[in-house]
Amino acid sequence: MHTTLATLDGPSLAGGLSVLRLSLHVLAATVWVGGQFVIAGLLPTVRGLGDSAPRQIASAFGRLSWPAYWLLVATGLWNYLAIDHAHATSSWNMVFGIKMMLVVIAGLGAFLHTKASKPSTRGMFAGIGTLASIAALVLGVAIAG
Ligand code: HEM
Repeated sequence: MHTTLATLDGPSLAGGLSVLRLSLHVLAATVWVGGQFVIAGLLPTVRGLGDSAPRQIASAFGRLSWPAYWLLVATGLWNYLAIDHAHATSSWNMVFGIKMMLVVIAGLGAFLHTKASKPSTRGMFAGIGTLASIAALVLGVAIAG
């Protein structure tokens, strides 16, 4: 009996196309979110390399992070279209809606961070962007079920 239940309720493998779709989404999330942690961690060292070093590193990171962001949006849309919406609960829809708001805040925060000239404003937008990105990731895991 135990074996039967385990067979019915146990883990199962995702299909080939779902593996591709989710792997691309998660890979892009590792670059967008993980990259922010790495840059923050390297910043004290980068500052020691010269006054213009942080800006140079930030713009080099932008060449990786923005494609990752747009890949998140594209594969996220693909995720959304792949889901059976007739059976989505209202809490799923609500969490998905909050995640979409966080994705916009994450993108706006990162963008305004690059445009701000005052260090305090720049830091504030970086913080907002990073926190929203982490929250979007957590809610992504929640809606994936
Ligand atoms: C900052 C941007 C984003 C991050 C960090 C992020 C992160 C994640 C993560 C980590 C998962 C869980 C994957 C898993 O456990 O298998 C996920 C799932 C999901 N994401 Fe995103 N995501 C982002 C943007 C988006 C966007 C823009 C959309 C929609 C347009 C979206 C739609 C979804 C959907 C529908 C799922 C569930 C997929 C499924 O159950 O098959 N995501 N996301």
